[in-house]
Amino acid sequence: MSQDFSQLFEQDRAHFMHPSTHAHDHASGALKGRIITGAEGIRLRDHEGRELIDAFAGLYCVNIGYGRTEVAEAIYKQAKELAYYHTYVGHSTEAIIELSSRIIDWAPEGMKKVYYGLSGSDANETQIKLVRYYNNILGRPQKKKIISRDRGYHGSGIMTGSLTGLASFHQNFDLPAEGIKHTVCPHWYRKAPAGMDETAFVQYCANELEKMILAEGPDTVAAFIGEPLMGTGGIIVPPKGYWAAIQAVLNKYDVLLIADEVVCAFGRLGSKMGSQRYGMKPDLITTAKGLTSAYAPLSAVIVGEKVWSVIDQGSQKEGAMGHGWTYSGHPVCAAAALANLDILERENLTENAEVVGAYLNRALREALEGHPLVGEVRGDGMLAAVEFMADREARTPFDPSFKIGPQVSAACLERGMVARAMPHGDILGFAPPLVLTREDADLIVAITKDAVDEVAGKVLG
Ligand SMILES: Cc1ncc(COP(=O)(O)O)c(C=O)c1O
Repeated sequence: MSQDFSQLFEQDRAHFMHPSTHAHDHASGALKGRIITGAEGIRLRDHEGRELIDAFAGLYCVNIGYGRTEVAEAIYKQAKELAYYHTYVGHSTEAIIELSSRIIDWAPEGMKKVYYGLSGSDANETQIKLVRYYNNILGRPQKKKIISRDRGYHGSGIMTGSLTGLASFHQNFDLPAEGIKHTVCPHWYRKAPAGMDETAFVQYCANELEKMILAEGPDTVAAFIGEPLMGTGGIIVPPKGYWAAIQAVLNKYDVLLIADEVVCAFGRLGSKMGSQRYGMKPDLITTAKGLTSAYAPLSAVIVGEKVWSVIDQGSQKEGAMGHGWTYSGHPVCAAAALANLDILERENLTENAEVVGAYLNRALREALEGHPLVGEVRGDGMLAAVEFMADREARTPFDPSFKIGPQVSAACLERGMVARAMPHGDILGFAPPLVLTREDADLIVAITKDAVDEVAGKVLG
């Protein structure tokens, strides 16, 4: 390592407070950090000059791959012409106007307007406010509760962290906040009662939701939020028929559906958004990540006609809604998004995600299904996961202290590939950039197989 990097690491330990990082181990140097110095396509370069395949596209966001100068140029051009102007009180810029129409083209039917933020968390915060506003304007002030799911991920703010169904996001923060409830996670392999098949499990999930709505009182439940395919909770593909069954319950009790498409939108599942893939008819949609492929921070809340008409009414009764961020509709981020959508469309990356994603998923299953360390291999589009289990048939997990997921992830890293040890359970996650080729998919699978074999050798002897 060069002298420069030692100094940088020292400064990093001294003054940079990293997200989701063990504070003491980082500051003391026990946690070895990594400085990323450059990237191209699906490959990163680090401080040691190593090239690493990024099989998680950053945090499942760099959909078009790294190093696209076309996006950098669009950002430069916009910053030179007009770096910023706000969008309050009807102000606009060309870039954000064009982007809003483009986003509606990507969205499922019935979507009307787009509201901007900078992150998935702030976008979901907007969703919660819209849901409250909607019911207040309709004269139903008691209809405010939001139902999320165990292991759902919706951000890490006070309210969005409450929506998130992972204990570590609640612990020591006095969360979840009042009015947020969690129903069952649709993970048939781990959550289905013994002997229940997938079809019965779907009905079980719908029944559990209905029971919760009835227990809380339907006139107090305002919305249900869910990722089309659950990401951070473990890359959990909804069982067939799940969304139809859930939507039937929501419709029965006049509960809005928020599709959190922060991971799934913009091609990742091999469809424009996850909603189209699974036949969802959301009232509100959250997007971020793939909207700019992370070349600039931007999130978009897409508002359907039903909610929009109430917002329109509300303004006639009560004036402008008191909700805005300084950077709502930032033109530089909009320019990045437009260039990103140009690339996604021109290079048919949604189709590539479907075709090469299916290839990657098939190859992973062929390589690892039935392996003594592996419980389940699953995925859809350009998302995949391998879940490690002590006993596949009895569905017994490993003792968490064995840290099987992190061990396999570390073994992948030694072999030149980043795959993510997901935060809940022993799950290795894959979400490569949508530009993935079959050759690179083969490499990902070969490295993973080798890494799993090594850890199996250590754990099983
Ligand atoms: C589905 C989903 N919603 C919301 C978020 C929060 O986004 P951010 O980290 O940009 O706040 C994430 C982040 O991973 C996510 O996966």
